[in-house]
Amino acid sequence: MRSDGISADMAGKRAAVTLLVLAGFCSLSDALRCNCTVCEKTGYECETDGACMASISHIEGQDRHVRICIAEVNLVPPGQPIYCLSADGLLNTHCCYTDYCNSVDLKIPLGIAEKQADQGWLGPVELVAVIAGPVFLLCVLLIVGVFLFQHHQRTYSHRQRLDVEDPSCDHLYLAKDKTLQDLIFDLSTSGSGSGLPLFVQRTVARTIVLQEVIGKGRFGEVWRGKWRGGDVAVKIFSSREERSWFREAEIYQTIMLRHENILGFIAADNKDNGTWTQLWLVSDYHEHGSLFDYLNRYSVTIDGMIRLALSAASGLAHLHMEILGTQGKPGIAHRDLKSKNILVKKNGTCAIADLGLAVRHESITDTIDIAPNQRVGTKRYMAPEVLDETINMQHFDSFKCADIYALGLVYWEIARRCNAGGVHEEYQLPYYDLVPSDPSIEEMRKVVCDQKLRPNVPNWWQSYEALRVMGKIMRECWYANGAARLTALRIKKTLSQLSVQEDVKM
Ligand SMILES: *[C@@H]1O[C@H](CO)[C@@H](O)[C@H](O)[C@H]1NC(C)=O
Repeated sequence: MRSDGISADMAGKRAAVTLLVLAGFCSLSDALRCNCTVCEKTGYECETDGACMASISHIEGQDRHVRICIAEVNLVPPGQPIYCLSADGLLNTHCCYTDYCNSVDLKIPLGIAEKQADQGWLGPVELVAVIAGPVFLLCVLLIVGVFLFQHHQRTYSHRQRLDVEDPSCDHLYLAKDKTLQDLIFDLSTSGSGSGLPLFVQRTVARTIVLQEVIGKGRFGEVWRGKWRGGDVAVKIFSSREERSWFREAEIYQTIMLRHENILGFIAADNKDNGTWTQLWLVSDYHEHGSLFDYLNRYSVTIDGMIRLALSAASGLAHLHMEILGTQGKPGIAHRDLKSKNILVKKNGTCAIADLGLAVRHESITDTIDIAPNQRVGTKRYMAPEVLDETINMQHFDSFKCADIYALGLVYWEIARRCNAGGVHEEYQLPYYDLVPSDPSIEEMRKVVCDQKLRPNVPNWWQSYEALRVMGKIMRECWYANGAARLTALRIKKTLSQLSVQEDVKM
C-alpha cells in the first residue's frame, strides 16, 4: 500500500547507499589503476586486482559521479558481478579493466529524470489512499504485532536478537543530514566480511524470482531462482530455524572464506511480511546438484574421480586452514560433511556446502566460537569418537579429524562409481550393508566403534594406481584414533601428485 513516490524515493536512497558502500575499497595492491572519487589521500586514484567502476546516480535532484576500484573477490557472481550492474532505472554503472578506464562520464539513462519528476506529485485519490491505507494497516498490524510480540517473548525469552541487519546501516538509511563523505566513512568502517555489503545482499535477495524447488532439507526448502537472467540457489529456512539461518549466514561471511571449492555465498535476507519471517540464503547455483545425486546418476572415469576427490580435499583444506593476519581467516570445521552436502560444478569439481553446523576456531584465545553441542551432523557419517562421545570438544583439531573421517567415506562413495577397465559398482551409501536406512546412533556405534568395521575396499582396486591411492587414503582417514588420520592438506598434496601422474586436467 505504499505510493510510488515513497517507494521510488526509498529505492533511490538504497541505490545511492549501495554505491557508497562500494567506495570503501580503494587501496589494494595490484596491477590495475583506476580513478577514484573518494580517495583523497592517494590523489584520487586507486589500485585493484579486480575492475574499475564508474557510476552515476541521481540523488536529491543532483547527478553524482562515483569512480572506484572493485577488488576481484567482490566480482561475484562471475560473469555478472553484482557491483557492475545498473540498479533498476536509478543509476548507470560501468565496469572496465584497463588503467583509468573509469574516467568516462556516464549519462543517466533517458526517461528516468522525467519519471522522477512525475513522481513528486500525488493526486487527491492517491492522497486519500496514502493516508487511509496505512492508518488502517497500522491498526491491524498493531493488533497482530502485540499478539506476536507476546508470543515471541514467551518462546525466545533468553535468545539474543538474531537479525542480519546491521544497525549502523539502518541509521544511514534514515539520516538526511549526512554528507556523502560521512556516509562513505560509516559504510567503509562497517564492512561485512568477505561477502557483499548487507544492503546489496538485501537488494539482490528481493529481486530474485523463484522458479522451482530443487531440494528439501532439514531446515526447509532449496529453490532455483532467477536473478537478472542468471540462476541462483535459494535456501529458504522456516521461521523456527532462524538460529540455523543466522549461523550459516554468519559462517559464509567469515572473512576470506571464498574459495572455488566452497559454495559461493551471495546474500542473506530476512523478509518480515508481518505474520512470519522468511529467511533466505542465496548462493551460486550448480545444476548437477549434490555429489550424492551425481554419483547416483553417473559413473565417473579415473580422471573424473581424481577431479572430484582433489577438489573436495582443496575445499576442505581451505576450510580447515587458519590464515593469520588481517587478510586471514579462522580455522573452520564443517561437522556435517557428506555426499549430500557437497555440490558438483559444471566442470566436474566439488563445492562444499551446508556450513550451518560449522565451528570456527579463535586461535588467540584458543576457543571455539560457539558452544559445540554433543552430537550433531548425520549419524551415518559420524566419526567413532563422536559416536562414543570420547571426542575432546575443548580441542578444535578433534573436529577437523572428524571431518576427515567423513571425507574418507565420501571418497569411498566416489571410488565405487569409478569406471576402471569397464567395471564399476552401483551407488551405495557408506555402511549400506551393515546398518539399516536412517540408522540410530546406537546401531552406528556397534558397527563403527565396537566391531570396528569400515566400508569394504575391494582387492581389485589394487590393480589401478588411482584406485589404489584412493583406497590407501580412505584407510588413513578411518583410523579409530582421530589424531592418526591424514590432514586435508596432506590428502590434497597426495591427490595433486596423483593428478599430475595420471595427467588429469583440473
Ligand atoms: C583520471 O585519472 C587520470 C590520471 O590521473 C587523470 O588524468 C584524469 O583527469 C582523471 N579523470 C577524471 C574524470 O577525474
